[in-house]
Amino acid sequence: MPEFQRPRGTRDFGPEEMAKRRYVEAKMRETAMLFGFGEVMTPTFESTDLFVARSGEGIIDELYAFEDKGKRGISLRPELTASVMRFYVNDMQNLPKPVKIFYFGNCFRYERPQAGRYREFFQFGAELIGAPSIESDAEIIALALATMKNLGLADVVVRIGHLGVLNRYIRELGISESAEKEARRLIDKRDFDNLRQVLGEAAANGEATARLIELVNLGETEAKDRARAEAKSDESFGYLANLLDRLKAYGFDNCQLDFGVARGLDYYTGMVFEIDAPSLGAEKQICGGGAYTLADLFGGQEVNSTGYAFGFDRVMLALENSGVGVPSQNIEVYILPIGEKAQITAIGILRELRNAGISADMDLMGRNMSKAMKYANSIGARKVIIIGEKELAESSVTVRDMKSGEQSQVPISDILRAFTRVDA
Ligand code: HAM
Repeated sequence: MPEFQRPRGTRDFGPEEMAKRRYVEAKMRETAMLFGFGEVMTPTFESTDLFVARSGEGIIDELYAFEDKGKRGISLRPELTASVMRFYVNDMQNLPKPVKIFYFGNCFRYERPQAGRYREFFQFGAELIGAPSIESDAEIIALALATMKNLGLADVVVRIGHLGVLNRYIRELGISESAEKEARRLIDKRDFDNLRQVLGEAAANGEATARLIELVNLGETEAKDRARAEAKSDESFGYLANLLDRLKAYGFDNCQLDFGVARGLDYYTGMVFEIDAPSLGAEKQICGGGAYTLADLFGGQEVNSTGYAFGFDRVMLALENSGVGVPSQNIEVYILPIGEKAQITAIGILRELRNAGISADMDLMGRNMSKAMKYANSIGARKVIIIGEKELAESSVTVRDMKSGEQSQVPISDILRAFTRVDA
């Protein structure tokens, strides 16, 4: 057994996996920029105080928190919203509104690792700061859905809720603040058995309990009907009905309402949403977000903000499960020089191809023909250039198409033209 293992909950990514991840990341970046969002990067670690200000002391148990050599409390970031809002308060408050930001970065949470749940994972997220809330919420959800669409991931469920609705029903229970918090956590987990027990122990009003449980269990159509029917009498229901109309105008009429979306983090204030990829089983939530206030908590002016983060690793798993093809790296040309003299010619051709932007690799191991062909296959080379004595004598090379097996002779002076012509 090797002496050193990866730390628990972390992963190594090989070249094939990295090529796929970079492709997906590029698609996400492309979509965000298409929507007018600009990229930011913030530090991997922050003062622990930032996360405590956001979520209370309890968060420390979930963090990679430590003291640095200067005795400062430092934590690896568990997500990027707090960092982005700190950055906004420090440097961006005076920018013209709205401020539209996206990011991609690694996050760290001290949790029990399992499939789709890691201690180091990646988020691709976006935040829209300083625009009225309904416009922001619609634009943010539309960006998340357009990202899924551009990736070709169709097998997803979008559930939108509103903490205004949920909190109104929870307040009617007449229970303590800590019991309310526990109730929200259990609703979020859809653990209704324990919810009933907790509400019973907290002496919650019986009728209010029944109303709450009915609300969070409303089916897809019933939830929409409820929002539309009560749109006039309840602001939050009206808000959701309006939001659905806007999303339809964006081209997304497949969103569900789910009043049980409570979101684990404590800073959300209004609309909340989640996207699930059912193929992932227990850890199926690939995206979470909503409207929140953090700027004032960090010493800035209060400002509307809304955002989301994709769990990038889960998106990769969902793409794989749904059979959506993600291209991995392929080398265009593999060059096999036979004999030492051929190597100098091979380097010349290698250089010419690479300078022309054609990915090219060359045998460095002195392989014979059959081993070289096997290797070329294993790296996904589309063509192999063979340079032997016979070819050298004729100032030409043999080009083999790895798919069809066809071979042709190409004069060395013509090689670039042959490749650009074939692949144009
Ligand atoms: P979150 O729901 O805690 O929200 O995380 C967003 C996504 O990150 C989750 O939906 C999930 O896909 C992924 N994720 C979370 N923990 C792990 C883990 N241990 N392993 C793998 N993936 C994980 C936030 O972080 C908010 N900052 C989102 C947001 C942005 N809200 C407003 N703006």
